[in-house]
Amino acid sequence: MKEIKISAPFDMHLHLREGQMLINVLPYTSAVFPRGVVMGNLPIPVDTAEKAIKYKSEILADDVTFNPIMTIMLTRNTTPAIIREAYNHGIKVIKYIPEGVSTNSEYGVPLNKLHEFYEVMETAEELGMILSGHWEAPFNINGNPIEELCREEEAIPFLAAIINCFPKLKIVVEHASTYGMIEYVKNAPNTVAATLTAHHALLDYSDVCDKTGKIIGSDLYCKPIAKKAIDRSAVLQTMISGNPKFFFGSDSAPHYAENKKRTPPAAGIFTAPVVMPLLCEIFDNNNALSKIENFTSRFGPKFYGLPLNEGKITVRREKWTVPYETNGIKIFLGRRELNWKVV
Ligand code: NCD
Ligand code: ZN
Ligand code: ZN
Repeated sequence: MKEIKISAPFDMHLHLREGQMLINVLPYTSAVFPRGVVMGNLPIPVDTAEKAIKYKSEILADDVTFNPIMTIMLTRNTTPAIIREAYNHGIKVIKYIPEGVSTNSEYGVPLNKLHEFYEVMETAEELGMILSGHWEAPFNINGNPIEELCREEEAIPFLAAIINCFPKLKIVVEHASTYGMIEYVKNAPNTVAATLTAHHALLDYSDVCDKTGKIIGSDLYCKPIAKKAIDRSAVLQTMISGNPKFFFGSDSAPHYAENKKRTPPAAGIFTAPVVMPLLCEIFDNNNALSKIENFTSRFGPKFYGLPLNEGKITVRREKWTVPYETNGIKIFLGRRELNWKVV
């Protein structure tokens, strides 16, 4: 196949940041994805309707052609009234990052305190909202850090508790990166789905860390960290399997190069400029191009209860070299040649 023409895709998990960074990165997303779920993990978390409305207007002021699906962060301040207010302002997604697990998660509720927010969950369930979460456990019951490779699977019991208590609540497992979590989601009720990234289908733990656990590829450092071959293969095989519980969320997460050079580096990879061509390569290499449209454009909105995007995009088999960086932000696979290009 020389080119594919598919219903315009959704990015069901992305970080656009704010201010100048937003202005720099949004064009890469909006050129390909007319809609996307915008995460509100700003330094001051977007955890009220008011902040979400302000953030939405900042995004629209920058690009009216992009249609952001807004989220409200679950923080220690969240109450059922705040959730109701957000819902009344058209916000349908609650974003959950446990405290200390990823970028700007300082205000998050720890997994073992989530039960204190069950009234919030009850409200979300009653209103038909979606709980989109970063399911990783950073600490064990004694408060000691859990090694990064195990954090996702260690979060499964906490996720299971929510699923059991709130059988009607729609839950998204963001950036599922392990065989164990993917199997868990496959076997969970149909109220549970997961987003998959392109980079977790391509990267290995050994690309990021050496044998002692020292980070050797800070540009490739993200949460959840890239895992082992069996996990990468599970991400890839699930992505091309046609299972509607799994849909695309890039987790494109830009950081300035200077923050990626810190120890530890800022977690996140800026993939928006390359992600659609990369998905084409992945699906093409696995003889699954006919399934890409479901993954990028249909399964996500179906789970969210949204109409498909109007319009189509064309991706063509054409070689191009990825720019190294843009405005001080390194681009995933910068300087590498890709075989597909969005036209
Ligand atoms: C994300 C970010 O930078 O906001 N980082 C990441 O490594 N994925 C946050 C997140 O999705 O966990
Ligand atoms: Zn995350
Ligand atoms: Zn993210």
